[in-house]
Amino acid sequence: MASGSRFFQEVELPEQKSYGHGIRFPVVLTSKLITTKEKVLEALEEAIRDEKPWLESLLRERGVILFRGFPVITPSDFNQVVEAFGYPEAFYIGGRASRTQVVGRIYTANESPLDKRIPFHHEMTYVKNFPSKLFFFCEEEPGSGGQTPIVLSHIVYEKMKKKHPEFVAKLEEHGLTYTIVTSDEDQHSSFTGRGWKSVYHTDDKKVAEERAAKLGTKLEWMENGVKTITGPLPAIRWDKESQRKTWFNNLTGPVNGDAKIYDKGTYVDLGNGETVPNDAMEDCSNILEEECAIIPWKKGDVMFVNNLTVLHSRQPLLKPPRRILASLCK
Ligand code: FE2
Repeated sequence: MASGSRFFQEVELPEQKSYGHGIRFPVVLTSKLITTKEKVLEALEEAIRDEKPWLESLLRERGVILFRGFPVITPSDFNQVVEAFGYPEAFYIGGRASRTQVVGRIYTANESPLDKRIPFHHEMTYVKNFPSKLFFFCEEEPGSGGQTPIVLSHIVYEKMKKKHPEFVAKLEEHGLTYTIVTSDEDQHSSFTGRGWKSVYHTDDKKVAEERAAKLGTKLEWMENGVKTITGPLPAIRWDKESQRKTWFNNLTGPVNGDAKIYDKGTYVDLGNGETVPNDAMEDCSNILEEECAIIPWKKGDVMFVNNLTVLHSRQPLLKPPRRILASLCK
């Protein structure tokens, strides 16, 4: 496959998932060149620009590209790599995670406590302006744990449809409504703990209401925060590029009233008001666990994710440090 490139070489890792005909997930690319650090970084940026159509076709077909073994050391190096792709930045308006700008278009990935798991999700499925591509960068390799599992979304859809055809038919017909209680200020203890002032980049309630409305979200003010209601939004998405249906929603585990996974006050219902059945969600969790690829982070890794076709999550960190940065693209 990687023979299509003058610069990149595809390598195999034992943790990749294998799907017939030698298709491995994710794609792992390294450099054919052996030269000095500066030259490789420069050459990487040049190769990204020159071979962008080939890289994009890989991303389309395989979902995720992991660039490994390149001298991407600092957040600025990562910023240069992202810039080389030339995609417009997706601004994080309506997003739920606490994130801080590091440099340029590079942000911390999610500042919630690293010993807590983040369930599988496509980035920002709960608003209309979700990013189509994500970049992650490993600045500090985790001591132990803290991986970012990834899974092909169409496989989750197909398996769920086989196992729960009636529920999936309802999902396709009615979509989902997301209700999320948001406090005034950021709560760093939660992975969805961004306060509404940060979510909508204002402390003016009227401005927040206008910005929320543009995202298809209604706000109901409460004493110390606001209830945000979005939907019904489609829960299954037709991906034109791959010609497949994807599990494009936040239903990736027990959702209703399970404080282990979702915060209290946050829930997801079918668009017709019906409750999402827990047995289907348990099966969904199992499918995600079975089908995901977990590649332990190595310092300098850059992971390029098609947010339209791949779900990602975060495993609890067992031993610090860990610093993963991210950049979102339209
Ligand atoms: Fe995420």
